[in-house]
Amino acid sequence: MTNVIDTLSGLTRQLEEWRHQHHSIALIPTLGCLHDGHRALMRAAQDKADKRILSIFLNPTQFAPQEDLANYPHTPDKDKALADKEGIDVVFMPSVATMYPPDFCTQITLPELSNRLCGQHRPHHFPGVLTVVARLFQLTRPDYAVFGEKDFQQLQLIRRMTSDLALSPTIVAVPTVREADGLAVSSRNLYLSAHQRRIAPHLYTTLHHIRNRIINDKANVTDALSDAQKSLQQHGFNSIDYMTLCDETTLAPIDKPQTNARLFAAAYLGQARLIDNLALYEDH
Ligand code: PAJ
Repeated sequence: MTNVIDTLSGLTRQLEEWRHQHHSIALIPTLGCLHDGHRALMRAAQDKADKRILSIFLNPTQFAPQEDLANYPHTPDKDKALADKEGIDVVFMPSVATMYPPDFCTQITLPELSNRLCGQHRPHHFPGVLTVVARLFQLTRPDYAVFGEKDFQQLQLIRRMTSDLALSPTIVAVPTVREADGLAVSSRNLYLSAHQRRIAPHLYTTLHHIRNRIINDKANVTDALSDAQKSLQQHGFNSIDYMTLCDETTLAPIDKPQTNARLFAAAYLGQARLIDNLALYEDH
């Protein structure tokens, strides 16, 4: 049975017991509303470590006041059942007061990487993510921490922070889990109407199309990106935050193909902001 822990003392007791028994530990941080993407992370963690901690914490500091914190789907009973089915050892479900005691005021920023892509449109977001992830790392001191490529910028920022601050875990990256029609699985897909859900896979199809044009047709990168934006809008996306080709390590925009080039896109379908990314070269 999965052990559900909501206090720091409970977590510390469990960690001490495991360390005493020389178990390796993997942490899987989530916001909850678990789905197949999270499940893939749980399974990747199982390949790495003896014990798995799944954290479920709807972190308020990574949402701006006008964003969807209040509407973000909250399914704790379903989440616990899924974690249990996957054989997760501990679900750590702290309260906001546990994660942010009243005098908490540290904030971790990584301006060079967070000012790009999503960070340009959601400036509050990555400081909130990095700070909560750093605190989760320090509370659990895991050997491994598992993150999805679906949020590729987040993954790169966490890799950078972990290395810069010499934090404990080895970061494990898991490829994006998709629905049969290519749409990246996401809790926010629940915001889509039936009509929007039919349109949504075009985001991924469009990234493939750009990739083919750049690699096979040797199209100019800027032209391919601008045609793709028009096509996305014609398909019914109402606004596009970005659609760009970047160096996947520095996240800096590039206009010529290179080995570690990755396409990144964020676009709105109604209220839902969808993001996706695709390596320019398939085997990369
Ligand atoms: P959340 O959106 O719940 O995602 C938790 C983890 O699951 C992240 O590493 C994310 O990249 C991964 N994930 C989500 N959908 C996925 C998919 N379709 N395929 C593969 N992995 C997927 O990301 C967060 O929470 C938060 O920002 C968090 C890191 C927990 C900090 O609060």
